[in-house]
Amino acid sequence: LTAPVVIAVDGPAAAGKGTLARRLAAELGLPYLDTGLLYRATARRVLLAGGLPTDTAAAEAAARTLEAADLQRPDLRGPDVDQGASQVAAQPPVRAALLDFQRSFAARHGGVMDGRDIGTVVCPDARVKLFVTASPEARARRRWLERQARGESIPLEEVAQEMAVRDARDAARDVAPMKPAEDAILLDTTELDAEAAFREAWQLIQARLDV
Ligand code: CDP
Ligand code: CDP
Repeated sequence: LTAPVVIAVDGPAAAGKGTLARRLAAELGLPYLDTGLLYRATARRVLLAGGLPTDTAAAEAAARTLEAADLQRPDLRGPDVDQGASQVAAQPPVRAALLDFQRSFAARHGGVMDGRDIGTVVCPDARVKLFVTASPEARARRRWLERQARGESIPLEEVAQEMAVRDARDAARDVAPMKPAEDAILLDTTELDAEAAFREAWQLIQARLDV
């Protein structure tokens, strides 16, 4: 009996996790889970109810009552939800409430899962763990280009600043901070486009899956 294959893709904002994880899942025939959506959807619920993402009781209640439809809302990508997601994510009861769903997902069919703590906490036994990074400048530029494409005019410096605050909060929190697992493979995509990042990751993964 072999355990389903799980591939963990962790790293900071706009490192290219989602783009890479989606492609890997398609190539490997595995399901894909964007775990950031769970925290985003939790924050969105709290904000829509007029609450504060830092209110632990409100955030935990939102996390415990998430439904599949909450993960498909069109408004999960704005600046308020970005910051709110990282605020709810710093609270232990919220993380505890979202853990079972993520672990069951992995146990059922395996999958490529992207987030911050997949390799360290959610799936410490993942077959392959990637920690994807890129320079803060490159990441801010990518997010800024996405915002431009959505028709939002926001200065690049503001995007960079928001991202720095969020990354610092994610790395500094006590519970499941963003950090590479000891056995993670680091992949720096600063100089790589999505295709080149995929090819690099594919080679690294094949080497690990062969052993
Ligand atoms: O999931 P994460 O926030 O880490 O990043 P993403 O959503 O996969 O990528 C953020 C943006 O950077 C997207 O617009 C990608 O097309 C772009 N990207 C890139 O320019 N170069 C890469 N190697 C990967 C993604
Ligand atoms: O797409 P981007 O990388 O900007 O963010 P995301 O992956 O959608 O995650 C949004 C926020 O959720 C992060 O800033 C983290 O605070 C939190 N998160 C987390 O704590 N653990 C995860 N496994 C995934 C996301």
